[in-house]
Amino acid sequence: MPPAANRASLRAKWLVLRMCLVVFGIASCMVLVIDARQSRWVSKLMRGGTSGSQAPATPFEGIRTLSAAASEPAELHDAIAAERFQQGSVLDWDPEAYRAKTGGGIPRVLHHIFLDGEQEYDRLVEEKESGFKREWRDSCVGNHSDWTYLFWDRESAQIFLDTHYPWFSATFKGYPKTVLQGDALRPFLMHAFGGLYIDLDVQCFRSVEESLLGQDIVLQSEYKGGRDVVNSIMASVPGHPFWKAIITEMLEKWHHAHGHVDTDVVLDAGGPRLYGDIFRKFTGGSLRTPAFVGAHQVLGSRIAVYGLGTWFVPCEFEDAVCHARMAQEVQQGRLREELVGWHHYSGSWLAGIPKGK
Ligand SMILES: *[C@@H]1O[C@H](CO)[C@@H](O)[C@H](O)[C@H]1NC(C)=O
Repeated sequence: MPPAANRASLRAKWLVLRMCLVVFGIASCMVLVIDARQSRWVSKLMRGGTSGSQAPATPFEGIRTLSAAASEPAELHDAIAAERFQQGSVLDWDPEAYRAKTGGGIPRVLHHIFLDGEQEYDRLVEEKESGFKREWRDSCVGNHSDWTYLFWDRESAQIFLDTHYPWFSATFKGYPKTVLQGDALRPFLMHAFGGLYIDLDVQCFRSVEESLLGQDIVLQSEYKGGRDVVNSIMASVPGHPFWKAIITEMLEKWHHAHGHVDTDVVLDAGGPRLYGDIFRKFTGGSLRTPAFVGAHQVLGSRIAVYGLGTWFVPCEFEDAVCHARMAQEVQQGRLREELVGWHHYSGSWLAGIPKGK
């Protein structure tokens, strides 16, 4: 395509995509971008039919083309690249192929995320009111001393995304709140590395390894009734399609939020509600009970969900009596067999986020 037409086409594509984003959201629009090549009315638009006549060729054509390419709307670029990611990424693994190649198993990689960095973390744990304790982090690192430990701050996260998911870099940088960035990073870490992700307000009683045996994904439900899975504690093999489904929906929800942030957006666009929705869709007909807790066979992979009272969650978030009892037990050195750790819920993700509807 000659440069001028290329530019006009980009402009038209961007126009159509923008209209589409407003009306339908990103997933439908990515389909449109792909379909556009076959669709006659759109290709007319792309040839510049409705966006004015083409500029005459000049000696500066190449230069202007370069600047036009440089100002290509980031969202258009991201949408096309995201679509490519959907179709296939070098970091994808089919769960069965993964087992065949590696013998299976969730890799021994422990991820912590604290985007404001190590120094800020040091400051936080010194602050009494913060409720964060260094010993919790140390207990998890210490009980997985033969694992690879990855501590993610904003800089390392950005480098990771720039390298492996460059189409997501700008979106990541553009999130207006740290909590959104932290949530968004998790499924990418699971997709690329696998391993165990836990929040920094989780204490470990022992190694998680035994509880992961034979599983492709292990998730935690934190509420009575077990109709939820959370993103504060999760383990996985790398490249699993579940993470791709999470990433896709996460991007769509975020685009629908139009940059607005409240507690609902946080829960929906990267937080627990997103995980619940995708888990329900993903397990589809295989979900025999309304509760997520238990063992699931999905697309040739094994997913285990631990419920309230097991794995890392002895107590519901607000159950002060239960947390006090736990504190006593732990102090006396009585650690329950069914628990590998304790989510203390000191994380203050709500700070500075306006309440949703
Ligand atoms: C393992 O966890 C327990 C309980 O949190 C802790 O007391 C112990 O120091 C940890 N082990 C190591 C090697 O860090």
